Amino acid sequence: MTPARLRTGLPVWLRLPRRRFWLGAGAATLSVIAISCATVDHALLAPPQIPGAKFVGSKACEECHDNLTRGFVTADHARLQARGTNALEAGCESCHGPGSLHVESGGERRTIINPRRSPEVCFQCHLDKQGQFNLPTHHPVLEGRIGCGDCHDPHKGRAIKGGATSLTTENELCFQCHTAQRGPFVFEHEAVREGCTTCHQPHGSVNAKLLRERNANGCLKCHFQMQTSAGIVIGSINHTAFLSHGTCYSAGCHEAVHGSQVNPHLRF
Ligand code: HEC
Ligand code: HEC
Ligand code: HEC
Ligand code: HEC
Ligand code: HEC
Ligand code: HEC
Ligand code: HEC
Repeated sequence: MTPARLRTGLPVWLRLPRRRFWLGAGAATLSVIAISCATVDHALLAPPQIPGAKFVGSKACEECHDNLTRGFVTADHARLQARGTNALEAGCESCHGPGSLHVESGGERRTIINPRRSPEVCFQCHLDKQGQFNLPTHHPVLEGRIGCGDCHDPHKGRAIKGGATSLTTENELCFQCHTAQRGPFVFEHEAVREGCTTCHQPHGSVNAKLLRERNANGCLKCHFQMQTSAGIVIGSINHTAFLSHGTCYSAGCHEAVHGSQVNPHLRF
């Protein structure tokens, strides 16, 4: 038997992958939400799937989770708007997946997605973040040790806790788990008041300890280095001899970068 040929002249088996792709794309358009948002350019997104479940809309969640639905109007994510016949898919279900089985069963386990265990649902819209959590040093979100929700509030107000409005709140967020950096210190490092994220990436980094810069560059952003006839001067002290020992915060120099109880130059 000769393989059936389409008008293009390609054997059917060669067409198959394309056909399947077309079917897949066709099916996907049925469940895609069109997001319109002032600040974001991604337009088409595929919501998470739960086998056998259908989208029921955020209203259906009110009955049992009114503690969460009440504040949701203020949430950054409540600005996600869906248009057209599949408008129900935005809202709670854009992160939790279609809720029909969950609602019908009265909230039975394993009928709805919890992003704490499935951070992938965030990556469908924030794809760049997946890469960040795969960098050599990262907060262990993909390992399941902490969740996006520990640092972000999906249900109420600004998604970034503290937002850009208050650095104190940002630091408070980090202190919840990193108590050693809280102080109070006899000798503070003023840089810490600028916020932990001045020096650290919150998600992941190619550098050790989630640092934005690998070496002295992170410090020289604020502490200017001057080349003089006597050598390299930083903070009015000649550092020429020190710089060969290692970077600023190693080699017994400024090891107490977050603040010190004993040394004004943040040595210990
Ligand atoms: C008929 C009541 C009811 C409705 C309606 C309902 N839920 Fe639930 N939901 C529950 C119960 C009960 C639990 C389990 C609570 C627990 O274990 O503490 C739950 C748990 C959850 C969880 C956590 C699941 C987990 O595995 O950690 C999520 C997420 C959730 N609901 C989302 C939703 C969403 C989204 C909607 C609307 C589409 C919704 N619920 C509608 C009753 C309901
Ligand atoms: C932007 C994504 C997002 C949206 C939208 C969203 N949630 Fe959640 N939801 C989460 C995350 C993340 C968690 C896990 C929080 C954590 O790590 O403790 C969660 C947890 C929950 C839980 C489990 C109980 C809890 O407090 O941990 C329930 C119930 C729930 N959500 C209901 C809702 C309802 C109802 C809506 C709509 C009003 C909604 N969610 C909208 C991301 C979202
Ligand atoms: C359906 C797509 C979608 C999903 C799913 C989603 N987000 Fe978002 N997220 C957005 C959009 C769009 C914005 C921008 C909203 C705005 O600017 O008001 C946003 C904003 C944010 C912001 C605030 C950005 C800022 O600049 O203030 C954070 C943080 C965030 N999302 C985290 C999450 C987390 C964590 C999850 C998973 C629990 C999640 N998102 C799931 C679409 C999504
Ligand atoms: C350890 C705390 C922490 C965890 C865990 C975390 N984030 Fe963030 N995230 C932050 C902070 C802090 C910012 C503010 C941006 C900054 O200061 O650089 C931020 C910013 C964002 C933004 C908006 C700004 C941008 O860079 O686009 C998005 C979106 C976001 N996070 C998504 C996520 C997602 C998705 C997860 C989970 C997979 C997650 N985050 C887990 C702390 C965290
Ligand atoms: C919910 C708890 C939690 C919050 C909130 C949190 N972290 Fe973390 N952080 C962790 C965990 C867990 C690790 C991994 C520690 C390990 O692997 O031993 C970590 C690791 C780190 C590391 C790397 C330490 C090392 O030894 O490599 C830095 C730096 C860091 N966090 C900074 C921050 C900053 C800055 C914030 C605020 C934006 C923050 N963390 C918020 C839990 C948290
Ligand atoms: C001026 C820059 C700077 C600021 C601001 C800063 N850090 Fe750091 N942090 C560092 C450096 C540099 C290291 C690495 C020190 C080392 O390798 O010995 C570090 C290491 C860490 C570690 C790992 C500690 C360990 O023992 O391995 C944690 C956790 C941490 N920082 C949390 C924070 C928190 C929380 C804040 C905000 C309160 C913060 N950092 C602000 C520069 C900074
Ligand atoms: C965001 C800006 C900023 C960054 C980044 C920064 N610092 Fe500072 N640092 C300051 C300010 C402001 C002071 C207080 C004024 C001063 O003494 O110059 C200070 C003070 C110091 C002091 C005490 C000065 C003295 O009298 O000996 C040391 C040591 C120091 N920083 C080391 C570091 C190291 C090491 C790094 C890199 C890990 C770093 N700084 C990164 C802003 C910064």
